[in-house]
Amino acid sequence: MILAANFKSNHTRAKTAAYLEALEAFVVAQEIHDEIIIFPPATALMQKSLHVKVGAQNAFAVQNGAFTGEIALEQLEEFGIKTILLGHSERRHVLGESQELIAEKFSFYKEKGFRIVYCIGEPLEVREEGNEALLEYLEGQYEGIDFGYDNLIIAYEPVWAIGSGLTPTEDDIVLIHGAIKKVHNKPLLYGGSVKKDNARAILGLDNVDGILVGSGALDVNDFLAMIKDAKDINKGVE
Ligand code: 13P
Repeated sequence: MILAANFKSNHTRAKTAAYLEALEAFVVAQEIHDEIIIFPPATALMQKSLHVKVGAQNAFAVQNGAFTGEIALEQLEEFGIKTILLGHSERRHVLGESQELIAEKFSFYKEKGFRIVYCIGEPLEVREEGNEALLEYLEGQYEGIDFGYDNLIIAYEPVWAIGSGLTPTEDDIVLIHGAIKKVHNKPLLYGGSVKKDNARAILGLDNVDGILVGSGALDVNDFLAMIKDAKDINKGVE
């Protein structure tokens, strides 16, 4: 399975280094074979450890240049970063990234061979319209994206579930993931209010290949507990 922690705008460089060290030690001690990724903030980007990938939460679709406030490929290369999160709902809805811009970033980082975790998910008003409207909304987030790309992971994160303590029902996760997988047969993570108390149940669901966790993974011990849950379930997803 794939377990990813998105720190968002949390943790310093020192805290991230300690987190990564604890994670690496656990993965070795527990002989974990699942894929583990952390996405620290830009100021805490650092080399991956032997068994844990470090990814960027965002980067501009250029090698370098005049893009105030953005980081680009050059800054990722400095730390050997080869994994990136794109299309996160906070970048779409809080920072106003268009599908066109996201697709541009996707194409650029695909070209560079990055492992891309591509996020999709609907806001509450769409969820309330029912499954058909929901799936139709997600189609808008497929625009301009090459889902045939080998190094792609999809993360389904309903906007209303992020940071809210709410999650879809288990049946809904299986259903929506099944519908997404029918169109794009890629590893598919669930994200949105995953905590150490519900991770095991979610990881065990059909069509769920892993989790993308925000606040519930800020404490490394909680993330370790989730990794242990995945090991126990052991679905053996690549
Ligand atoms: P929470 O786990 O805090 O709900 O955030 C999920 C998320 O956005 C991960 O990318």
